[in-house]
Amino acid sequence: MPRQLFVTTALPYANAPFHIGHMMEYIQADIWVRFQRMHGSNVHFVCADDAHGAPIMIAAEKAGKTPQQFVADIAAGRKEYLDGFHISFDNWHSTDGPENHLLAQNIYRDLKKNGLIDTRTIEQFFDPDKSMFLPDRFIKGECPKCHAKDQYGDNCEVCGAVYSPTELINPYSALSGATPVLRTSEHFFFKLSDPRCLAFLDQWTQSGAVQPEVLNKIAEWIEPGEDGKPKMGDWDISRDAPYFGIEIPDCPGKYFYVWLDAPIGYLASLQNRFAKLEGDAAKGAAAYESFMADPATEQYHFIGKDIITFHTLFWPAMLHFSGRKTPNAVFVHGFLTINSGEKMSKSRGTGLNPLKYLSLGMNPEWLRYYLATKLTPRNEDIEFSPDDFMARVNSDLIGKYINIASRAAGFISKRFGGKLGAVSPDGAGLLDTLREGQDVIAALYESREYAKALREVMLLADKVNAYVDANKPWELAKKDGMEARLHDVCTVCIEAFRMLTIYLKPVLPALAANVEIFLNSGPLSFGTANGGLPVGHTIGEYQHLMQRVDIKQLDALFEAPAPSAATQSATEIVAPGGEALAPTISIDDFAKVDLRIAAILNCEAVEGSTKLLRLTLDAGEKDEAGQPRMRNVFSGIASAYKPEDLVGKLTVLVANLAPRKMKFGVSEGMVLAASHGDEKSNPGIYILNPWAGAQPGMRIH
Ligand code: MSP
Ligand code: ZN
Repeated sequence: MPRQLFVTTALPYANAPFHIGHMMEYIQADIWVRFQRMHGSNVHFVCADDAHGAPIMIAAEKAGKTPQQFVADIAAGRKEYLDGFHISFDNWHSTDGPENHLLAQNIYRDLKKNGLIDTRTIEQFFDPDKSMFLPDRFIKGECPKCHAKDQYGDNCEVCGAVYSPTELINPYSALSGATPVLRTSEHFFFKLSDPRCLAFLDQWTQSGAVQPEVLNKIAEWIEPGEDGKPKMGDWDISRDAPYFGIEIPDCPGKYFYVWLDAPIGYLASLQNRFAKLEGDAAKGAAAYESFMADPATEQYHFIGKDIITFHTLFWPAMLHFSGRKTPNAVFVHGFLTINSGEKMSKSRGTGLNPLKYLSLGMNPEWLRYYLATKLTPRNEDIEFSPDDFMARVNSDLIGKYINIASRAAGFISKRFGGKLGAVSPDGAGLLDTLREGQDVIAALYESREYAKALREVMLLADKVNAYVDANKPWELAKKDGMEARLHDVCTVCIEAFRMLTIYLKPVLPALAANVEIFLNSGPLSFGTANGGLPVGHTIGEYQHLMQRVDIKQLDALFEAPAPSAATQSATEIVAPGGEALAPTISIDDFAKVDLRIAAILNCEAVEGSTKLLRLTLDAGEKDEAGQPRMRNVFSGIASAYKPEDLVGKLTVLVANLAPRKMKFGVSEGMVLAASHGDEKSNPGIYILNPWAGAQPGMRIH
């Protein structure tokens, strides 16, 4: 019976394109999946966008999009990366898909039935301007320990102190600048501290489902500490509206915290795959249920070290206590660092831009190979070093492996009509050695020891190269009467190359596909190492299989951006003036806005408002009786200007804005003023004033 595997990678936040760290995780998982498929296993390899949560909702609002549109735009860019690096997901979905809404609500109901959901009233900071509870990341203020200004609500980036947002001095909302107020709200908790949960997690984590070094990390959460109690407390799984997420059944205005529905997205993507396979949602749901109910199904998650607790504590407990299958294992990898051990920023992933890599014509399988030479089954960081990259690819991959084919293939086609010959005992002995490597290499792939697997392959390639050097086909070709020996030696090389290709195929799928065409061999698979190509088999013409890395490509890849940009901070590049650029518009869109020069005839304070000034404007208009028409406009500039500063000045009016009824009267237009996106740290409002000579009523084009 073939194995039935359900394999995932972590679901990336749908707030940014992929960075190289994501590609590393996908490459690690993809190699494993391709290896399993080569063994005839039946694999479902799925992923999805992690769509929900406050940060995405807020980013969407800033971009002027609905969260759905924002996430869809990010998702549209995924394919270029995944196809580009030969990642063979069987399905890509979204945690905002209908399957996930249903599954999350069902899992919650099951946990509730099991007595594992609690409600509790908690106190939290609330932004009175935005009318929403603020996530810790969106509360800033002065560090209570070192008094550094503008620190986040959960920890200080200057002194490293960890605290709760309520301890900040002079806290303010990073969204509106408003001073947050404490408000109470009822939250839902998953009772992870319930003795049943602790007992289950103790057993599950010891069952071989996690790596030993990961087990050490999680033990401190579930084993009793010095005070006799485990560190693991109940888990707050609800958030209040406004929130982009999944509504909690029967609780309008309450949503699941994004980390509750995110891993459920693994199941949703699998179910969505079955729906596509079956061509029907209901049939897909049934196929999904029976697949998951089958005890033979194995479930594996590849993740990074920063999300261990979610995957090895919360997730298995959610599954187990909702009566579902738990993962067979969670495979944790470390972080990829670039050229210095400097930790890549999780959100920016600076250093190696995957699309730039591809656009420079760099072969994606160089990167797959290089990362594989570094990857182990342990939770340890790996380092991308350009020099090492070039050495591994040029000296090992090309120098040791590709060269075997290029040295032998020409003779086979020119001298022997493309036909393979018979192999004599010395060559057969070498091929046996290669064949014997198969089980060892397979076991290393299975246990994610890719670095070791590739070392084995290169040792075998060394043996083949030693054989070539000992037999010197280029000399045999010049000697009379050595025709048969030349045929023999070159045939051994081709067969050896075929076997090495099998061993490298999980890492180099596109290259292997080209080798299959060249050798005319049909699909190469692990079992096929045993039966070699028969005497008389015709191979194709050798085409160059892989270029060497050119140092110029690496230089270009890591070339700093243009100097002017380099001197700006990253946030200034994406958000000049504290605000990202609005989406592009056409000249016709712009023409819809009618901007006119207006004279400020009068200006006065507005009783009952500290923000507004009332302006009386002349924009050169006349009414039906031919009398000058004045406009009444309210503007929120009282903090910056006194009425007497403005009277008699010219400014710019949006003249065709629909009139707006306000508490103090109707505003018939809007005057333009500049301000920084982050008013709190960068206050100031600057009204526009035309150059001398402009007259009221002139249009601004
Ligand atoms: N959305 C969550 C995961 C939800 S899973 C139900 C998330 N997303 S993420 O986009 O921030 O990270 C996705 C994966 O990329 C995680 O496994 C994370 O560990 C991994 N990596 C992020 N930076 C990385 C490196 N520099 N190197 C390797 N993997 C890294 O977390
Ligand atoms: Zn501090």
